Order: sequence, then structure tokens, then C-alpha cells
Amino acid sequence: MKKYFLLAILLVLIVACTNQPSLNINQALDYCVAKVQKSMNSITDEKYPRNMENGQTSWNSKGVRSWTSGFWPGILWRAYEYSGDEAIRKQAERFTGPIQIIANSKARNHDIGFMVFCSFGNGYRLTGSEEYKQIILAAADTLATLFNPKVGTIHSWPGNKEYQHNIIIDNMMNLELLFWASKNGGKQYLYDIAVKHAETTMQYIVRPDYGTYHVGIFDSTDGHFIKGVTHQGYADDSQWARGQAWGLYGFAMSYRETGKKEFLETSQKMADYFIDRLPKDGIPYWDFDDPKIPDAPKDASAAAIAASGMLELYQLSADAAAKTRYLNAAQALIKRLSSTDYLSRDKNMAFLLHSTGHHPKNSEIDVSIIYADYYFIEASLRLKKIKEQNSLK
Ligand code: GLY
Repeated sequence: MKKYFLLAILLVLIVACTNQPSLNINQALDYCVAKVQKSMNSITDEKYPRNMENGQTSWNSKGVRSWTSGFWPGILWRAYEYSGDEAIRKQAERFTGPIQIIANSKARNHDIGFMVFCSFGNGYRLTGSEEYKQIILAAADTLATLFNPKVGTIHSWPGNKEYQHNIIIDNMMNLELLFWASKNGGKQYLYDIAVKHAETTMQYIVRPDYGTYHVGIFDSTDGHFIKGVTHQGYADDSQWARGQAWGLYGFAMSYRETGKKEFLETSQKMADYFIDRLPKDGIPYWDFDDPKIPDAPKDASAAAIAASGMLELYQLSADAAAKTRYLNAAQALIKRLSSTDYLSRDKNMAFLLHSTGHHPKNSEIDVSIIYADYYFIEASLRLKKIKEQNSLK
């Protein structure tokens, strides 16, 4: 009897040590929707949630022109998509509307894609609103004004006077707006410049080992590549984790939109790089090469973005081994984010803890951040659909 009792205790201990408490995918989505329902009525000003430092319980907000303004309406649209809750839809419409100003103003940077496609893009996908469609098309034309044909890319940060023509790896995400517009009534030119931007990024910003520079600097008059540097990473040649996540996601999406095999291969190799360099606990440090590791801060946002991109890779890859690799890796990231170490639970309004925004500026370190939540709910919805389509548990 005593032997069985000891064995039972041992089993409980093994389970407790090896299994982080985790949620299944419906539980993760229920959690997100419940958090949105609880917080949305207290987000009453006309500002957009951005971050929460440790100990804060409600969002610090930014104006509509902040690069992150699209993520809160994006979260609301995604939560509505899962729940069908009309009260959430109302809030989604409310926070989407003011972003129209971005579509029709002079382009300040590549972030138009994040702002307009997460808000109006999701809204159009779910409602078919003709008004939303016209705003997205206008936004794509606005983004296209930043294209420099000499370099062959969009100028990501025209306001940055330190560099001439610059592109950042994050900009890969915003090509989706151009691809979408070219296929939904916009000009062919939008498709062509998106392809050219992706090709130039692949040539100069993706390194031979499939890591990436954060920023590429080019001569704006003759277009030649000057150098790769960092802005938000540890060093020019280190690997900023979120940059790698933006890139693998952006190249997977570019393959979906073009069928160009080189984009798929680039995305897969970038994903392999990301997976192979993950630390034991499964969530990346903010930069894979910070010498302070293991005492460096984590970046849950990089994990959420990468998980969503890897689920797209799962769907696009033909090879069975590759499919398994990306599905398993994405599930592991989502599962780890869904553990008590990373979920904020009732600590604050966000879904997740432990993201890092701009470490070199000592800004937003180990905080809750709105885009981590956006890509967490997006990845969870993608995983749910994949499981349903393939009758997976
Ligand atoms: N796109 C800006 C960032 O990832 O922080």
C-alpha cells in the first residue's frame, strides 16, 4: 500500500515538473475573449492601448498615428470573429474608424500596413464593408508613394535623417496590404513593388546564415547597398528576435501571395534559424545574442509573431517533415505562452506578460505590449482552424 502511495506521489511530482499548466486552443481563445469583454468598456478615451509596465493594471495609450494603433481594433475584430459577440464588434468598429486618417494622409512610414490592415483589413474580411475596402485601397496607394525605384524598395522610415534610404525587416509584414490591394481592385503596380521590395530585402537584409539585419541602408540616388545595421537589436550583427519573427512571417505571406519558391525557402530557413536558437524555456530572449543571457529579458511578442508565421508555413509547405516541424514549433510556442509564466491572468488587462519593445532605448522592457496580444490571438485562431480542418487534437 505504502509502495503505491509513494509511486502516486512520484507520478504527481513528475507531471508537475515536466508539464507547465497549459490551455487547449479553445481555452486560450476563451481566455482572450473574456479579457477583452472585461476590459473593453473601460477603454473609453479616443486613444489606442500600447503597453503596461509591471504593476500597472490598465493600458498606457497612444494616439491614432502611433505605429501600434491598428492592433487594438485588430484584437477586437479577432475576438469578435471567435465569439460572435456584437458588443465586441461595436468596439471594433469604433476603434477602426479613426484610423481612416492614416489612409488619406501623406505617408510617414511603412507602418501604414500594420495600422490599416489589422483594423480595416480584419474588419473588411469579417463584414465585407465596401467603405472599408475603399479605405484599404487608399492606404495601399499611400504606402506605395514611399517606393524608390532606384533602390527597389519602400523607404521604411523617411523621417530618419541618420540614414539615407533605409528599409527594416519589419516592413516585410506591410507588403500584405499591397498584395491584397492589387488583387482587390488596386493597380498591378502595387503587386510589382511589393515583389521588388521582398526580393531586395532577401538579397541584402537576409544574411547568408538566414539571420537578418534589422535595418538596411542604401544610397537613395544610385540605389547601392551601403550596410546593414541595427536599431532595436543588441548589435549590428546580432539577431534581434522580433526582427527574425517579422521576416519569417513576411516571407511566408509573400510566398502565399506570389507563389515564388525563393520566398518560401527564405521563410523556412529563417524559421529554422529561430527554432534552433530558442532557449530551453521555449520563448526567445529579446535578442538571441545579448551577452547577458540568461539574465536578459524575454520577448513574448517575438514568440507570438513567429508562431503565427510558422502556422502559415505549415499550411504552405509541401514537404511532410517541414509541415510537422513548423506545426510542432508553433504549437510549442503557443503552449508556452499559454502557461502561467506568460499569461497575465488577472494581473492586468493584457493577454500576455514579458515582451520587450525597444531595449537599446531602455524602453518597454519586460512589459505587456499590444502587438504581442494581437499575434497571440491571431496565432490561436489559425491553430484552431488548422486543428479543425485536419481533425487534430
Ligand atoms: N515595428 C517595430 C517593432 O517591432 O518594434
